Formats: sequence, C-alpha cells, structure tokens
Amino acid sequence: MPAYAVIGGQWGDEGKGKVIDYLAGQSDCVVRYAGGNNAGHTVVNEHGEFQLHLVPSGICWPGVTGIIGNGVVVNPQVLLGEIAGLEERGIDTGRLYVSDRAHVIMPYHILLDELQERARGRSAIGTTGQGIGPAYVDKTSRDGIRVGDLLDGERLPDRLIAAVETKNKVITGVYGGEPVDADEMLALCREWGDRLRHRVCATEQMVQDLLDQGKRVLLEGAQGTLLDLDHGSYPYVTSSSPSIGGAITGLGINPQSIEGVVGVFKAYSTRVGGGPMPTEMHGTAGEELREKAHEYGTTTGRPRRVGWFDAVAARYSRQINGFTGMVLTRLDILDGMQDVKICVGYKVGDQPVERFPANTALLEECEPIYEKMPGWTEPTASATQPEQLPANALAYVRRIEQLVGCDAQIISTGPSREETIAINRVIH
Ligand code: GDP
Ligand code: IMO
Ligand code: MG
Repeated sequence: MPAYAVIGGQWGDEGKGKVIDYLAGQSDCVVRYAGGNNAGHTVVNEHGEFQLHLVPSGICWPGVTGIIGNGVVVNPQVLLGEIAGLEERGIDTGRLYVSDRAHVIMPYHILLDELQERARGRSAIGTTGQGIGPAYVDKTSRDGIRVGDLLDGERLPDRLIAAVETKNKVITGVYGGEPVDADEMLALCREWGDRLRHRVCATEQMVQDLLDQGKRVLLEGAQGTLLDLDHGSYPYVTSSSPSIGGAITGLGINPQSIEGVVGVFKAYSTRVGGGPMPTEMHGTAGEELREKAHEYGTTTGRPRRVGWFDAVAARYSRQINGFTGMVLTRLDILDGMQDVKICVGYKVGDQPVERFPANTALLEECEPIYEKMPGWTEPTASATQPEQLPANALAYVRRIEQLVGCDAQIISTGPSREETIAINRVIH
C-alpha cells in the first residue's frame, strides 16, 4: 500500500508538475492535498504543454485517477474551466474526483484577498490574489462552504446567507469595498454543484481503498516548504501546509502508508512575492539569470526573484519533511556559467546563524556564506543518463546532496518528460 509524497523543498515552482507527470507513469493515482489555484504546475509531454492549477499533474496518463483532496481550497469556476480546457485538448478527465470536504473559494474570498493586500500597503505579502488566505480563514473559523454543501439544496442557503452577511460587514465596514449579492452567490453555488456533482465523493475513503488494493498513490505537493504556514518565513507564506503534515491531514491517510517523501529542489532558488530570500541576486546578475531561465510566475506572470542554491534552507526543509530522496530540477539552466555558488551558512555581522531562523526579521538580516564551485561548459540540457553529465555538474550535484543530507533520485535537465535522469527508482 505505498504512497509517495512529492513536495516542494523551496519557495514553490521547483518543477513539481514536471516531476509528477514523469512519476505518474509508474502510478495509479495522483492526489493534490493542499493549496488551491495559487499553484501553477507546468507539464510538458507528448500532448503539449499544460499549466495546471487544480487538476493533479498526472491527468495526462490514461488510467491514472486524479483526486483533489479535502485539504485543497477549490474555486469551482477555475476547476470547471480547467477541466473544459483539458477535454478540448483530448485529455480524458473522467477519472477526476473532488473531496466533499474540500472548502470552496467564493468570490468574496477573492475580493477580500485583494482588499487585505491593498490595506497591508508596503508590507503586502504579494499573494496570488486567488482568495486562498480568506478561504482558509473561513475553514478554520468554521464558516466555510464545503464542496459537499454545494450539493445540499436544503442546508446551503442558510449557511451561505449567513456567510455573505458577515463578509459584507467586513468588506464594506472595514475596507470600504462593494458588498456581494447573496442571491448571486447562491445561484453560482447551485450551478457549480450541478456541474461537479458526479465528481464529488469521500476521497479519503477512495484513497484508503486504493492503498488497500496495493495501488501506487502519488501525493502532489503545491507551493513549497518555505511557504508553509507554520514552517515558512511567516507572515510571508501561504495559508496552508505544503509540507508532509499537510499531506496527511489534507487527504486523510495515515503516515504508515507513506513509503517515500521526495523533495523537489531547483538547482538554484526562486521566490515570487514578498519576504526574505537570503541568496537573492540583485542587479544585472539576477536579471540575466531570470531571463535565461525565463522565471516568470505560471499563475500570475510576475517576475520571480532568483538566487543561488540555499543549502541552509534546503537542509531545514529536508528535516521538516523527512525527505527520503530529492529531485534536482533545472540543472541545465546553470550550463555555461563560469562559476556556481552554494550558500552553506548564514551570518549576521560576524555572528554565524546555524539554522534557518523562525524570526523573519533575523532571516531578513542573514547574509549568505557561499562556497564557489567551477561551472561547466558542456551542456547538461536534455541529458538522460548520469554519464552524460560533465564532471563539474556532477560535482555540484554531489555537494548539494552532501549539504542537504539526502541523495538525488532524479535529475531533471529540461521541461519535458523525457529530459530526465533517473538515478534511483522513486516508486517501487
Ligand atoms: P511547479 O509549480 O513546481 O510545478 O513549477 P512551475 O511549473 O511553476 O515552474 C517550473 C518551470 O520549469 C516550468 O516552466 C517547467 O516547465 C520548467 N521545468 C521543470 N523542470 C525543468 C528542467 O529540468 N529544466 C528546465 N529548463 N525547465 C524545467
Ligand atoms: P506552485 O504550486 C510560488 C506565494 C505567493 C505569495 C505567497 C502567498 O506553483 O509552486 P497566496 O496566494 O498563496 O496567499 O500567496 O505564496 N505562492 C507561490 N509561489 N509557487 C506557488 O505555487 C505559490 N503559491 C503561492 O507568491 O508570496
Ligand atoms: Mg508553479
């Protein structure tokens, strides 16, 4: 009954979509457990290029079941649009299911996200503006609308009208915004319920049954460990738990069924939105790398901040998740660089900072201590065998493994499924 978690080890956009699409070929089911359509997962395979926001990244494989688990916040409009887009391109979505316990992102959540960010002014988080935070707030305050409620014609109006009444007080009274209309919301919910009804089920039971039958289940992380509500650089985080704890609560499976926890890391670092990033490259060096790597957000199109690989943060991420192995992506982006650097420690003034600090103000002050390694001129791009890697590229990978404390099971050398070096089997 093996489940394998694939989790972002940095600040998101590590290439999880590519890795899941690759591994889904050896799996029976792919399950999203947290976040919502703040995620943008890119998949490139024989069917073309896809940007997936809610639909699990294994969907292109016939026979692989896709599940959106209870820990996800679902914008039904976005989900329905994504399903229609996939169907138009010939991808069968008949095996896609949504948890009845997943919470719904309502239009007032999106409005509140926007109003709250505006009110934060210079300390704005830089959210994706998709209503993620406000939807999770309603979940924890027990005022949320769940996917199952969309099907419940009797209970839905009371719950929704109460929610809209409270939200409107906040929208107009606190933020001076325009109120939303309860009847409009109700009509939307009914339409969504009708259109999603056949996909809604008790997904925790479905996943448990699949595991009992010995099927291989992939747990697809969204965002990254350093954006985790508890373990990330708070308050510059998302409102869910992208790390391993979120996988368990976000699906209703037990830890014993998880056989492998794979951390996905880029060969360098990126971050979108606000918050500290010790290895950020400023000026032309940063711009050059961003352009070369085309580091622009999949969901919002915003330029991503770029920097060198941060082994202090990566080691912390390995410890939080208990990574049994890692996937290193985008090694090819570093092809042709004269030198490459790895952050092996932090310091504030003369004082070393041994571990990734919880104090965000301290993290802001941390200066990276770098180890410089020689770059490589021969390409790693599109390599499929470890022997094809130039010696310096391999030495770079080995040093990262040593510093992070786990082995690279896969090295990714390009966006498409084939551009992959499988070193050790992830799925058994
Ligand atoms: P995710 O959110 O973790 O799934 O990552 P994104 O899809 O937002 O961003 C990763 C980007 O890198 C996408 O454009 C992928 O197609 C691309 N990508 C993934 N792996 C590789 C790789 O090894 N090399 C290159 N050049 N691009 C990659
Ligand atoms: P994937 O799954 C990168 C960031 C936002 C912002 C913070 C909070 O593609 O790796 P939110 O809208 O979640 O309230 O925004 O989190 N963020 C991501 N950054 N990749 C993501 O997802 C992200 N999802 C959220 O930029 O800084
Ligand atoms: Mg992304």
